[in-house]
Amino acid sequence: MSILEGKNIEKSYKDRTFLKTSHHQVLKDIHLELEEGEILALVGESGSGKSTLANILGFLIDPDQGEIIYKGRSLKRPLDRQDRLDIQMVFQDPFMTLHPRKTVGQSLYEPLRLHKIVQEEDIKDYLAGLLNQCGLSLDHLDRYPRALSGGQLQRLNIVRALSLKPKILIADEIITALDTPIALEIIQLLKEIRDREKISILFISHDLASVRRIADRILVMKDGEILERGQTQEIFQAPKNAYTKKLLASIPRLS
Ligand SMILES: Nc1ncnc2c1ncn2[C@@H]1O[C@H](COP(=O)(O)OP(=O)(O)OP(=O)(O)O)[C@@H](O)[C@H]1O
Ligand SMILES: [Mg+2]
Repeated sequence: MSILEGKNIEKSYKDRTFLKTSHHQVLKDIHLELEEGEILALVGESGSGKSTLANILGFLIDPDQGEIIYKGRSLKRPLDRQDRLDIQMVFQDPFMTLHPRKTVGQSLYEPLRLHKIVQEEDIKDYLAGLLNQCGLSLDHLDRYPRALSGGQLQRLNIVRALSLKPKILIADEIITALDTPIALEIIQLLKEIRDREKISILFISHDLASVRRIADRILVMKDGEILERGQTQEIFQAPKNAYTKKLLASIPRLS
């Protein structure tokens, strides 16, 4: 059963120049379904509209048209608190969620208190468990983000999202800035999380080799449209679309 569905999603941005304002359509009649417990990858070249779609599905921006259905209910911004918590985003830039001038612990404690996810006295143990599952320890909480590596920051970013007990993770280019071995570790971590927590993950990347390792299913996007969709094996072994074939022929980073 699909947990999140996007129907007929359209989005344009205004391009303003000195002389005129024009509309640039970035998403065209997008339909997609994220199944419960699956890892669905969204791939496509830079500028194809992946982040715009991710931000719409994560309710950070509104589409011009279309509907987003979560667990059978059509949702609109602003979301109810529980829906807001259920759909969490992890960004390429960890500083979107970890405050550079606060310790990691401060950044992680705040939403847990605000949303009363666990009792105050249990927060430390709760975080210790999550940090451990994500290959980190309580010591990391006393550090400032600038004193951590890119891989550690992304793990913390994942811990922050998981701490809110989401049903869906939307991960937008979270391994793009990482070296290959570290990127592979993060991919492995996401798979473990999906297997253990049965969370559904939308994994956005233009790195097809990493997508091959993580995704159950793939959507191929170009110029705001989904050109091809299918099981990961199908897409890699028998791509139908010429653009998909071209993408696959480009150098795979993690092969
Ligand atoms: N806030 C904005 N205002 C105007 N145009 C935008 C805005 N955000 C994105 N765009 C444009 O929309 C198009 C799609 O951008 P988007 O960031 O969704 O692509 P992407 O597939 O995520 O690319 P990348 O792989 O580089 O992250 C691009 O042409 C981009 O310039
Ligand atoms: Mg993007």
